[in-house]
Amino acid sequence: MSLEEEAVRREAQVHGARWEGLHHRYFSDSKVAEPLTAAILEAVDASRPDVVADLGGGTGFILKELLRRNPLEGVRLVDVDASETQLSACDDGRIERLAASAASVTRRDLGAEGQCLLLVARSLLHYFGRAGLQPLLRHLRGQLQVGEAFVHQSACFADEGDAACLNRVYGMMGTEKRYFTIDELEAALEEAGFALREIGPAPPLRLDSVDLAERYGLRGEEVASIREEVGREFGERAGVFVETRKGFTAWLHYSIFTCRAE
Ligand SMILES: C[S@@+](CC[C@H](N)C(=O)[O-])C[C@H]1O[C@@H](n2cnc3c(N)ncnc32)[C@H](O)[C@@H]1O
Repeated sequence: MSLEEEAVRREAQVHGARWEGLHHRYFSDSKVAEPLTAAILEAVDASRPDVVADLGGGTGFILKELLRRNPLEGVRLVDVDASETQLSACDDGRIERLAASAASVTRRDLGAEGQCLLLVARSLLHYFGRAGLQPLLRHLRGQLQVGEAFVHQSACFADEGDAACLNRVYGMMGTEKRYFTIDELEAALEEAGFALREIGPAPPLRLDSVDLAERYGLRGEEVASIREEVGREFGERAGVFVETRKGFTAWLHYSIFTCRAE
């Protein structure tokens, strides 16, 4: 099983019906999604795609939000996710569902040969770990024609110490997920053949240890040791990591990247 498949399997218990209620409903909140849907709709206006594919699109929330804001007549919308359970919760007949990994899905799989394709993603890149990021970005770049866009909201931090703090939390939870700095992601996108057109802010995701325990199957002792060790090593970081009475709260920061294939 690949690293990404294992990451998806590990959190399967929160997929499907549970997903949209998790993490204070971050992933089903229209206001939270607004900066990303605005960036995607700008890219739609600029490139007039025939197909919009949401990679790691989960329950299809972002595609549904796009449709709520704009009927996107004549545009095919495809929710691509490695989790069948996530896809089964996408109940909008206007959205096609494709069970596939972002690491291997092709333009042909998306039915976009000879058409204009726009790729989008929210909260996906960190699943690929340090070693998997560049191969993923190169694969995605390989599916696009020059000038086509990739708009994604990805977890990343302005500050190296904040990224290291979250990487320590996720390492202690036994995941291979990796949080990069904004500079690192910018460099990785450029190396893979993307030109970065715009970068903007997105709301942070509040992660309470009780929700992380449910998502990753953590025991009380594991939560306590993260609280203690991360607290000792990184100290209190407002808006990034704070200890609470029974555990901790962490915040995942995000930026929105509008990129074009060069
Ligand atoms: C944090 S969730 C975000 C879901 C959705 N993008 C949203 O914002 O509501 C990440 C999603 O990516 C999917 N995923 C993880 N690795 C994947 C991969 N290699 N290929 C396709 N989907 C993947 C997971 O199953 C999950 O649905």
